[in-house]
Amino acid sequence: MSEAFTTKSVHWDCSSRRQNLAQRIYERINARMSLQKDMDVIDLGAGTGLLTYKILPHVHSIVAIDTSEAMLEKLKEKRSGEDRIRTCVKDISKESLHGFYDGVVSSMTLHHIKNIVTLFEHLYAGMKPGAFLAVADLLREDGSFHSDGSEGVHHFGFDEHELRTLISYVGFKEVTFEIVDIIQKERCQYPVFLLTAFK
Ligand SMILES: C[S@@+](CC[C@H](N)C(=O)[O-])C[C@H]1O[C@@H](n2cnc3c(N)ncnc32)[C@H](O)[C@@H]1O
Repeated sequence: MSEAFTTKSVHWDCSSRRQNLAQRIYERINARMSLQKDMDVIDLGAGTGLLTYKILPHVHSIVAIDTSEAMLEKLKEKRSGEDRIRTCVKDISKESLHGFYDGVVSSMTLHHIKNIVTLFEHLYAGMKPGAFLAVADLLREDGSFHSDGSEGVHHFGFDEHELRTLISYVGFKEVTFEIVDIIQKERCQYPVFLLTAFK
């Protein structure tokens, strides 16, 4: 799956659709969460950093975690001396986090992760009490979103009730769920949700 993103990393940032979506997700996270200058945050599946660099001015530091070295290389190219972003090649659904964080953001990554229960358990364990979670991804779709191939796609989006139940089971509280954007493709529209919660 990382190989698919090796190819995609080259032109990832050229898509205005991806740029606009990251902007919209950032705006809603910023509106919902009280981002603070002393917060150390994780961007899960940070990719080339489209969301990372929007969140960075509001927090102390970000660890950009991703399984694709190629995507993170693109993120690093944009860093230009910025030492408040650290990159980490890791699959948190398989390994736990080291350290304790004030928040986790994520954009369009959840559907690429097979075992999301273990993922959320590992995130929960690595979060400080009161830390926030803000995860954006596709609402349940028919599988047509990845028309270029579904390699590495483990979920055709998510159902609100299913995610709320899972998140609460792991221990997260004050769960909210809203549709923040709609991706328009040739044949279909794909709503994107933002789920927020606290440890
Ligand atoms: C659709 S891209 C989104 C990238 C970025 N968040 C954005 O909005 O532009 C999904 C990213 O998740 C990463 N990814 C897939 N599975 C992962 C996992 N188990 N752990 C961490 N990152 C993962 C991919 O390598 C890819 O960079």
